[in-house]
Amino acid sequence: MPEINRQLRLHSRPKGLLAPGDLRLAESPVSELKDGQALARVKYLSIDPTMRVWMVADTYLPAVPIGEVMRAAGFAEIIESRHPDYKKNFFQKLPKIPFVSDTVFLGVLGLNGLTAFFGMEIAAPKKGEALVVSAAAGATGSIAGQIGKIHGCRVVGIAGSDEKCSWITKDLGFDTAVNYKHPDWKEKLAAATPNGIDIDFENVGGEIMQEVLNRMNLHGRVALCGLISGYTKEDPARVSLGNILVKRLRVQGFIILDYAARFVEAATQLGQWKMFGKLKDRETIVEGLEKAPDAINMLFTGGNTGKLIVKL
Ligand SMILES: NC(=O)c1ccc[n+]([C@@H]2O[C@H](COP(=O)([O-])OP(=O)(O)OC[C@H]3O[C@@H](n4cnc5c(N)ncnc54)[C@H](OP(=O)(O)O)[C@@H]3O)[C@@H](O)[C@H]2O)c1
Repeated sequence: MPEINRQLRLHSRPKGLLAPGDLRLAESPVSELKDGQALARVKYLSIDPTMRVWMVADTYLPAVPIGEVMRAAGFAEIIESRHPDYKKNFFQKLPKIPFVSDTVFLGVLGLNGLTAFFGMEIAAPKKGEALVVSAAAGATGSIAGQIGKIHGCRVVGIAGSDEKCSWITKDLGFDTAVNYKHPDWKEKLAAATPNGIDIDFENVGGEIMQEVLNRMNLHGRVALCGLISGYTKEDPARVSLGNILVKRLRVQGFIILDYAARFVEAATQLGQWKMFGKLKDRETIVEGLEKAPDAINMLFTGGNTGKLIVKL
């Protein structure tokens, strides 16, 4: 049994990107296991934009209190147990699947794949419709766009580098990609969606969402998955709601935890798509617990392609 538990504790609430010292490394002894407890060794941590939100505000989960261990999803191995089964808390037992790495359970077959799956269910895609996905080379967006292709949509991804745009079109099969860092990105988006947009799988908010809403068709749907452009700002990005009204859009926000009862059903479908080559994924892996604060910042500077993971 290991004697020391290493932790990142929240020392101060960040303003903008995380500053050195907002999260601090600490160590404490691992206490003796009691009946009803299990000991897990964390192998990988999932790095998610929502962690930045948990560091400052109460939302769908309470903010992490100052001084507490930072919350994260992860992949762990039970190394000792005095619990007949460890269903309680957030534990989810996972099957061993040949030929895939354990980390798929944090990305394509984990919360990001599930988020893409249920967000696309909300979007109700029909063959031939135009789907736009923002943060399209990220863990969630890259899967949402591929699910759109499986349903026969014309899929346009918006991402922050030419390399990311090339990955989602050449490898993942998106029809077009628009790099929002090029000054003419709005013209490119217009050229890529000559008949308007039917579905917005929204991950970013702000100016990108505004431009996509401007191009929406009547009775379009917006799966409002995330608003990452506002997470590091004091004032959350504002988006005009006029388009929603005039174009009779159906907009639905969602939190993936609401779908917990259907995770196995969705992961089975995602697993089949992956096995038959219909879904591809990529991972950006950073090594070492002490690198986790920098890794969180990578989400906001676009340093990751696909799922961002910290290996311990
Ligand atoms: N509703 C839910 O239950 C749920 C669950 C999971 C995730 N989400 C949301 O889904 C979104 C994506 O999360 P993820 O975990 O899959 O992360 P991710 O897409 O793998 O990483 C975030 C990406 O967002 C892009 N980005 C960051 N700041 C941006 C900005 N100001 N403008 C445009 N793009 C920006 C960056 O890529 P570029 O290089 O392209 O800029 C970055 O790589 C987030 O909004 C997250 O909150 C929601």
